[in-house]
Amino acid sequence: MIRNSLHIAPANTADFRRLAQQRLPRQLFDYIDGGSYQEVTLVNNIKAFSKLSLRQRILKNVSQIDLSVKLFNNNLNMPLILAPIGLAGCYARRGEQQALSAANQHNIPFCLSTVGICSIEELQAQTDQEFWFQLYVIKDRRYALNLLKRAKQAGCETLILTVDLPVLGERYRDVRNGLSASKNRNSFKGKFKRGIDIASHPKWVWDVAIKGKPLTFGNLTDAVPNANSLDDFKGWVDNQFDASMTWQDLDWIRDNWSGNLVIKGILDLDDAKEAVKLGADAIVVSNHGGRQLDSAPATITVLPDIVTAVNQQCKIIVDGGIRSGLDVVKALALGADACMLGRAWAYALAADGEQGVTQLLSIFENEMRVAMALTGVTKISDINQDIIAKI
Ligand SMILES: Cc1cc2nc3c(=O)[nH]c(=O)nc-3n(C[C@H](O)[C@H](O)[C@H](O)COP(=O)(O)O)c2cc1C
Repeated sequence: MIRNSLHIAPANTADFRRLAQQRLPRQLFDYIDGGSYQEVTLVNNIKAFSKLSLRQRILKNVSQIDLSVKLFNNNLNMPLILAPIGLAGCYARRGEQQALSAANQHNIPFCLSTVGICSIEELQAQTDQEFWFQLYVIKDRRYALNLLKRAKQAGCETLILTVDLPVLGERYRDVRNGLSASKNRNSFKGKFKRGIDIASHPKWVWDVAIKGKPLTFGNLTDAVPNANSLDDFKGWVDNQFDASMTWQDLDWIRDNWSGNLVIKGILDLDDAKEAVKLGADAIVVSNHGGRQLDSAPATITVLPDIVTAVNQQCKIIVDGGIRSGLDVVKALALGADACMLGRAWAYALAADGEQGVTQLLSIFENEMRVAMALTGVTKISDINQDIIAKI
């Protein structure tokens, strides 16, 4: 059991997770860590990776390993992207800024969520390097258009459009902690318990609640000008998810975004084909990290059929349950062009800010290197189904 973040060197994602658990108020840790309903998909995402075995090969001259890839005309040090994660500025002081710095150090993209604490402009002011922006399909099209313009002005070349949230999956942990609408949410008891949870994490209070202000949804301050708390923003956002959306409506996005368009939340062959028809430059095979349809399949299990259906007409990114460099190598072997990290970077950020994320990425990099060497491949383009053991 890890007790003190000062006395250990985290060796893997699980260590960062434990440190995040110590550091964060429970309501926030559970918000990151939890999945919808019985958390079947959340668990299966991870399990499905461990069920895949790699083929050990020997004597193949693996003295030089090259992890670099090209994605949308950008050369990346490795095929990883930091996935859009809402509220990252609540996990560490101005968390999106810190994660962006870590991504820059490793020369991989960071994607800012619509519901980030830091705004597009705050990140733009911090870096010369490009970052990605993620948009939820919201009812207020004028505001969506405004966000696209702001992203373009800030130099974002790649937009992730997240389409797997027409309605919100319920996370029982959030209900119990009074984060989602529940009987206790605004009761004295509910508020008191949440207050005690926060007060018993003084380091977090100092680092984030005091020094990390303003804790608003930076991209949405114009949309909710009278907001007094994150709750007010959340109320606006929850009302903005557009359950009436169809593929036809997405033409509107394609017409208004000339950069790379990535459709996130694809889990089905037919939907993958629709995304190609729309002109997507990439899709993200994703079940939102097991936070939406519980009992949806693990992403890695549907990946191979989607790869076949897409037939190289667009890039394929996968996320969900990726906790190590070995998982990344497995996903690449099954046809992904790149992987997105979700909770892994959120845990590392909560554990130790920018340094935590930088360290996590170094760990992933080393794990990928070793996995490639021991499966006998030296460059990313050589990774294919052959390295998966048929047992
Ligand atoms: C705390 C949390 C917040 C998230 N916020 C967003 C978001 O704002 N936009 C989005 O497209 N996906 C969001 N996701 C989903 C992630 O982008 C990603 O698909 C998922 O975390 C991948 O699964 P993994 O966490 O098992 O790696 C969020 C996930 C988590 C855990």
